Order: sequence, then structure tokens, then C-alpha cells
Amino acid sequence: MSEEENTAMIVTIPDSFPAVVADSGGTTFHCGVRQIDLDLITDGQLASDLMVRVLWSSINYKDALAMSPIGRVARISPLVTGIDLVGEVVTDGGSHPAGSLVLAHGYGLGVSHHGGFAHYARVPEAWCLTLPAGLNAREAMTLGTAGFTAAMSIVRLEADGLRPGDGPVLVTGATGGVGSSAVAMLSVLGYEVVASTGKRAHTDWLRGLGASQVIDRIERSDPPKPLSSAHWAAVIDSVGGPGLAQALSELRYGASAAVSGLTGGAGLPTTVLPFILRGVSLRGIDSVDCPLPFREAVWQRIATDLRPADIEALVDRTIQLDEAPGAGADLLSGSRTGRTLVSVS
Ligand SMILES: NC(=O)c1ccc[n+]([C@@H]2O[C@H](COP(=O)([O-])OP(=O)(O)OC[C@H]3O[C@@H](n4cnc5c(N)ncnc54)[C@H](OP(=O)(O)O)[C@@H]3O)[C@@H](O)[C@H]2O)c1
Repeated sequence: MSEEENTAMIVTIPDSFPAVVADSGGTTFHCGVRQIDLDLITDGQLASDLMVRVLWSSINYKDALAMSPIGRVARISPLVTGIDLVGEVVTDGGSHPAGSLVLAHGYGLGVSHHGGFAHYARVPEAWCLTLPAGLNAREAMTLGTAGFTAAMSIVRLEADGLRPGDGPVLVTGATGGVGSSAVAMLSVLGYEVVASTGKRAHTDWLRGLGASQVIDRIERSDPPKPLSSAHWAAVIDSVGGPGLAQALSELRYGASAAVSGLTGGAGLPTTVLPFILRGVSLRGIDSVDCPLPFREAVWQRIATDLRPADIEALVDRTIQLDEAPGAGADLLSGSRTGRTLVSVS
């Protein structure tokens, strides 16, 4: 942790500061960096809210949607985007004194409540965690919402009995934020990880993260088979669609799939057969509204036994606020890998 991050400072919040704002008012959509008045984020402020000087944020799939005219995830306009952040508390509040570092993601952040792509954020204290020992601010946002989702998927699979040594675990969308974090975390726990990707050019990188095998993006066989050869001890899927249907048909008897995303489609063209003939389970993963105590427990795991061996290897690039809209468009185009960090202030 840097000296700056450890040192409590008296911070005066300026009347205006830069933020990435998505504005769908009127007939046109616009998203870019502009100076916002402090009033924009303090409107409706509660006594329990924390004012936070944002240090780091990251680009997640939902950020990319919020910064896109076709994303339709923003619930207010104008919206300061950014669904996760790590920052320094600048006003005393409950269990988070001025100068302490907090981590926040999900709930309404960057969707229905102004988010982390701004020099300052107002965050309900009930959404804030103390940055766990064992992770610095940059590392926490390198993992961010995507890493949390990967960790939550592992925790859910463990609750279903998954243990290292049970057999190969399939990770779909492996070069994405959730996928690459899952590969790195499963590997550090000692699992045999099979990474499925549409970007075979990144095979060496995935092997470096800990994949023991890299396979082509899993697609539904044609004609589709309700049951295929049983390969996987578990599946971590952030893709959905026909690929997930195929992965379900390849799960071993009694195994589970943890499902978090839909980059390959929201549909799930499957049958009941994997469930009733092989007893497989589908576990839904929601990082947005899961309760704070569970969130804290998962972050503790991320800071300890799930901590990837080389967190920096997950970083694709580090950008400034004004580059965020372009980075979001890149993410939606599928051209990026790993995690994009946003250095905020
Ligand atoms: N449930 C939750 O709480 C939660 C939390 C975080 C994210 N998510 C969701 O999880 C998904 C992934 O998020 P992310 O941040 O990891 O996004 P990301 O970094 O953009 O990664 C998505 C990956 O999906 C794969 N992919 C993209 N288009 C595809 C297609 N048409 N068919 C099959 N695979 C495709 C690609 O991996 P390859 O090229 O390697 O195949 C891509 O790298 C998103 O849908 C996001 O909304 C949900």
C-alpha cells in the first residue's frame, strides 16, 4: 500500500470536479468527461452517507453498457458512471473514519446512484466495506466487480461440495474479466482449470494465469444433444446462451454450474435432461444485491486464499477518466482481455 493510501488527510471537496457522465436526456445520448458540480452528487444526501475521494475504479461489462446508447442499464440521467470504486473517506462516518480506505460495488452504484468515475463519490455507508488487509487499492480494483463475481462463483460451487482434485473445472469467456479472474483464483486453490475462449491467440496468457488446458469457445453441437459426454466437475459461466446449454450437457453426475453473465445471449436453449438424469444444479450468481456480510466474507477470501498469484497479470491496461467511454466501447466489441483499471485521482 502506498504512503498516500495510508495517510489520513484533511480533504476539502471542491465545488466542481471531473466525472464521466452519461446523459440520455432529450433526443440524443452523450457520454464523456465533464466538470460536474458537487451538488449533482450530494442531492438527496443522508447523514449516513460517506463522501469518498475516489482513487481507483475499473471497466466492467455493465459500465460499458451504461456508457453506450444501446446499453439501457442506467436508471437516472444524467448519471455519473462507474459501478465499483476504492477511495479514501473524506468525512467521518460511523465505522469508517476520515482517511480510511473503502471499497464499494453493486447495489445502485453507477446505475441508479452516481458512481465511481469521478474524483469524488457519495456512497451510502451500508454499501461500503473496509478494504481488506492483504489487498491494496489498485489490486482491489484490478479484481473489482468481475473478480468478486468470480470469487462468489467459487464460493457457491464449494458450498455444493466442489473440492480441488474433483476433476476439471470449465471456465467460459475465459479472457473476460470474470473468466480470467476465475481462472487465476481456481488455479491458486489447486483446481484443474480448462479455459474456454474465442480468443485462442491468448492461450499463453491464460496458461500463465493457471489454465491447464485452453479450448475453443464452447458452442452448442449441431444438432443439439440434451446430454453429451460428462467432462466437467463444475462450470463457471459468464457467457450464457447456447454455450452454457452445451456446458450443462457435459457436467458430471451431481455437478454444478455457477452462472453470472450473458455475453453470449440471455437465452438458455436446454432441456430438463441434465437436471433430472444427471442431478446437475444451476447456481445463479448476483453480485449486485448480495448482502454486505456475505460480500465482506468473499472479499476476505479474495485477500487470502483466493488471491491470484499474480494480480498484475490480469491488467490489460490502466486508463484515465477521459478514456473510459472508449474503453467501454472496446469491451463491448469483444476486443479486450482481462481487466481495464481506471486511475481516478
Ligand atoms: N451476475 C453478476 O453479478 C455479474 C457481475 C459481473 C459481470 N456479470 C456479467 O458477466 C458477463 C461478463 O462480464 P465481464 O466483465 O467478464 O465482461 P468482459 O470482460 O467483456 O468478458 C466477456 C467475455 O465473454 C466472451 N464473449 C464475448 N462475446 C461472446 C459471445 N458472443 N459468445 C460467447 N462468448 C462471448 C469473451 O471471452 P472469450 O473471448 O475468452 O470467449 C469475453 O472476453 C457480462 O454479461 C456481465 O454483465 C454479471
